[in-house]
Amino acid sequence: MGNEPMLQKLFGRGRRDAPDTRRGPRTQVEVARDGLAAARASSICVASGKGGTGKSTLTASLAIPFAKAGRTLILDADLGVANAHILHDLHPELTLVDVVEGRCAAIDAIVSAEDGLDLLSGGSGFSKMAGLSAYELHLLSAGIEKLELTYRTILVDSAAGLSAQTVAFAAASDVVLLVTTPDVTAMTDAYAFLKVLLRRNPRCEILLVVNRAMDEDEGKRTADKICEVSQRFLGRAPRPIATLPEDRAAFRCTQRRQPVVRGEPESELSLAIEDLATLLMAELAETRPRGLGRNLMRRVAWAPDLV
Ligand SMILES: Nc1ncnc2c1ncn2[C@@H]1O[C@H](COP(=O)(O)OP(=O)(O)OP(=O)(O)O)[C@@H](O)[C@H]1O
Ligand SMILES: [Mg+2]
Repeated sequence: MGNEPMLQKLFGRGRRDAPDTRRGPRTQVEVARDGLAAARASSICVASGKGGTGKSTLTASLAIPFAKAGRTLILDADLGVANAHILHDLHPELTLVDVVEGRCAAIDAIVSAEDGLDLLSGGSGFSKMAGLSAYELHLLSAGIEKLELTYRTILVDSAAGLSAQTVAFAAASDVVLLVTTPDVTAMTDAYAFLKVLLRRNPRCEILLVVNRAMDEDEGKRTADKICEVSQRFLGRAPRPIATLPEDRAAFRCTQRRQPVVRGEPESELSLAIEDLATLLMAELAETRPRGLGRNLMRRVAWAPDLV
């Protein structure tokens, strides 16, 4: 929690203000294009393959340091059984269900979690949301496209599994945080997710997080195994970025409906998540935001029938 000057240094000025000195003089078109891109939020998609690996726990806590560095939105893309709002003790009346059914604009479904941090809930107990039509996904993308002009960072809390829309969100984000645990079924599902994602977007930036590790060694062994198998069979491997410890603080804070970095900021898990946030901000400072909604829309490629 005490690393705000560092966060500001990494993220506060960041790529938006810094001139690009790597190449020669840029054309007016390049400058204008960069200006447009820079106005959009950076996006991080937290995904896993298997359910219950800790995506929502991690997203809820990562959002706190990100919000300190600039306005942040948690987008709960768990469209079947959304629960990101629970971890911030929120009770949104409108959700993405209302957005895709045309009852409200995405901006009207946003609720404030705390200073600088907003949430757009996915909605719960609505089975239709498990599989949106191309048109509904188009509506969703258009809503997000408008929102991304007002945030610095969008954190997407994904649904488990390999549904088309879960993979589309990951493929459209600037960075994917692939979360696994040392459990062999979680590792297998992380690999399966990777395979589908790379097919969808071969240039995807994928960072690997091992959650619930008993120690650093277990985290390293888990990451090495996934990287080795992916490199061998997919010709590409994710980049390991963090090992997060098994920590009962996660359970206690979930019961209290609090992100762990808020409820138990000095816990081992909170400190590891703070470190991860700092690394991610450095990572994003090197990445030009492509625009989640805009990118998603391109990937959905819905077009009305021409009559
Ligand atoms: N590092 C950790 N140490 C101990 N428990 C953890 C840790 N991370 C998450 N948990 C616990 O694991 C359970 C599942 O976490 P969470 O809901 O965040 O997973 P998820 O990946 O979002 O699940 P889903 O796929 O259902 O959305 C929760 O009970 C949470 O408290
Ligand atoms: Mg979840």
